[in-house]
Amino acid sequence: MKVYEHFPLKAWNTFSMDVKARYFAEYDTKDELCELLKQFANEKILHIGCGSNLLFLNDYDGVILHSNITGAEKLHETDNEVLLKVGAGVVFDSAISYMLERGWGGAENLSDIPGEVGASAVQNIGAYGVEVKDIIHHVETIERKTLLPRVFGVAECRYGYRDSIFKNELKDEYIVTAVVFRLQKHAELHLDYGNIRQELQHIEHPTISDVRHAVITIRRQKLPAVSEAGSAGSFFKNPIVSVEKFAELQASYPDIPHYESGNGVKVPAAWLIDKSGMKGKKIGGAMVYEKQPLVIVNTGDAVPEDVVKLAEKVQKKIYSEFGIKIEPEVNYIS
Ligand code: EPU
Repeated sequence: MKVYEHFPLKAWNTFSMDVKARYFAEYDTKDELCELLKQFANEKILHIGCGSNLLFLNDYDGVILHSNITGAEKLHETDNEVLLKVGAGVVFDSAISYMLERGWGGAENLSDIPGEVGASAVQNIGAYGVEVKDIIHHVETIERKTLLPRVFGVAECRYGYRDSIFKNELKDEYIVTAVVFRLQKHAELHLDYGNIRQELQHIEHPTISDVRHAVITIRRQKLPAVSEAGSAGSFFKNPIVSVEKFAELQASYPDIPHYESGNGVKVPAAWLIDKSGMKGKKIGGAMVYEKQPLVIVNTGDAVPEDVVKLAEKVQKKIYSEFGIKIEPEVNYIS
């Protein structure tokens, strides 16, 4: 267990914001986590993974916790399925490699998403037609107040689009220590989203590893590598509009891409931003990324305020052009 004071966070947020935390603490076991929670019972706490989905607005006047609980353990196996428990501190993409090496499918469409296993279950990460909720069996946690363990079955996690009970009713109350995934030995492939099928057209019988490689290729064409420019992936959520509102939009823009979503229609924010002419627009060091305008990048010297102002400008522009409110997907931390 390690505790640092006045800790620089630049390497701990993929936006590369140059801010500090009053305390930063890492733990290797559940017992160490409980010790830290006792020690810092009266402090403001933020638990992070790789810091890949947050925007620090200023120095953090509290404790940042990071899990080093690693390891993977097979809990159960049948002819078709495997239950695999993975520590919250494992890098999500390494967990996928581990699963695919053993021929266990389900997570391949989520390849190359930055972040750790614990955060994936809070955020319900998703890509290319799959969300992590689709392969979660249950989530193991520790309650902050009582230090007691609690298991949440997947239904209890109340998953939605980039959403869960851990971001709403139970925000900041439980810390994820491990996630148990339900994986398939004869996985059905999900190829219908975006360009996956096209990327795999030269392979007659694609495997789960082929899907992983296709997803990685597609993502790397559109999303900036952290080494190239800091970002937090998609900055905005794709808005869901009413069927009536969509009909109105489609009358003006017959080519508008869309997906059915419950009793509404999901419209890609990237398309709206592109159409609004905001691609490449800058405020200070923050810029709307050219190749994927859903992403805001730090071109090198952005301060949090640049990103906030640029995001507001994009939101206002989309509202005035289309009458649609788009919301950040990134969590603002103050
Ligand atoms: N588009 C444009 N102009 C552009 C770029 C894209 O019009 O310059 C349009 C495309 O035509 C496409 C649409 O935008 O129809 C959407 O693109 P795509 O489906 O590839 O991705 P997305 O909706 O922008 C979502 C997730 C991503 C995830 C991809 C793939 C959200 C907020 N984002 O993005 O997740 O990787 O789908 O499944 O749901 C993340 O959460 O950080 C993230 C990267």
